Amino acid sequence: MTATHSRLLAFGSAFPERVLTNHDLAQRIDTSDAWIRERTGIEQRRQLADGENNSDIAAAAAQAAMARAGIDASDIDLVLACTNTPDRWLPSLGAAVQARLGLRAGVPAYDIVTACAGWLAGLQTADALVRTGHHRHVLVIGSEALTRFVDWSDRNTCVLFGDGAGATIVAPAQADDGGVLIDVRLHSDGRYGDIMTLPAGGTAMPTTPEAATRRLNCIHMDGREVYAHAVRAMVEVSQEVLTRNGLTLGDVDWFVPHQANLRIIQAVARRLGMPAERVATNVHKYGNTSTATIPTCLQEYEADGRIRRGQLVLMTAFGGGLTWASGLMRW
Ligand code: UT7
Repeated sequence: MTATHSRLLAFGSAFPERVLTNHDLAQRIDTSDAWIRERTGIEQRRQLADGENNSDIAAAAAQAAMARAGIDASDIDLVLACTNTPDRWLPSLGAAVQARLGLRAGVPAYDIVTACAGWLAGLQTADALVRTGHHRHVLVIGSEALTRFVDWSDRNTCVLFGDGAGATIVAPAQADDGGVLIDVRLHSDGRYGDIMTLPAGGTAMPTTPEAATRRLNCIHMDGREVYAHAVRAMVEVSQEVLTRNGLTLGDVDWFVPHQANLRIIQAVARRLGMPAERVATNVHKYGNTSTATIPTCLQEYEADGRIRRGQLVLMTAFGGGLTWASGLMRW
């Protein structure tokens, strides 16, 4: 039987062991636990240890998802590594993970780079490739080593980000199967690229000693601008994906938004009219892990039984680019 749909089989996540609390940061820079909690909702984040890399947590999250799904490494026939912080520019994170997991030689593996909307872009790509019969078990990973690209002297940004990885396996399905992906909508607007950027390290500005001294090889952000765009875009794309599928907010059991800042999450939920008890959050524990926030939230809420079979899940993300996306899944 041809697959009319694709579905998510299971979730896995992995975080570095090292915990960096707000109090730890307050010892290094002019900030406080109270300020960070009040403005962002973040209490702590995880940080890769020296010698640990993005591919370590990406592979661990993938292994956890495969174990949970009962899928053997030999079944995976495509790896999509959604990331903004690969181990290196060449080879891709996807290829590094393929080698780490010992997947079959020849299995394609590549990266998707669309800032914090990356994992939803990965789901959309996987869905299309599964429904057209190109692939049967697509590993979709969202994994970041953001603390490697943070200017630890810039209190405007360094308190926000953390490292982490989440993964799923997308497989052929019929419309009424559990975990079915109903839709994903993805948008970009490159005109606002400068409000959140990592200026050096590409062809426009190589990482010269001067660029490094000026910390241009780190994330730079106009926080207020990003905040305003994030709230507007996530509300709009959430409404768009619901309307396209003849659904309303009342049909949604769980709203799983990108975890950048609790205030952004609350503002989006309020404007949508989504009650707080149906909004999934883990930003207090991990900070903003970009492409990893949605899959790690899904993993946590599914594993402890809060997200249950048959429930409708609305996922929404926003990030640099600008990029923004929304997806619907019936677990
Ligand atoms: O995936 C998307 C990623 N990006 C984001 O999610 C960022 C979106 N933006 C935000 O989350 C918020 O804009 C921030 C959390 C970054 C900042 O919050 P805010 O309420 O917009 O603060 P602000 O930038 O307006 O700064 C208010 C004050 C400033 O001091 P002055 O100029 O009023 O004296 C900042 O210098 O807070 C100061 N400040 C801090 N103080 C203590 C900024 N960062 C800190 C800090 N600790 N870490």
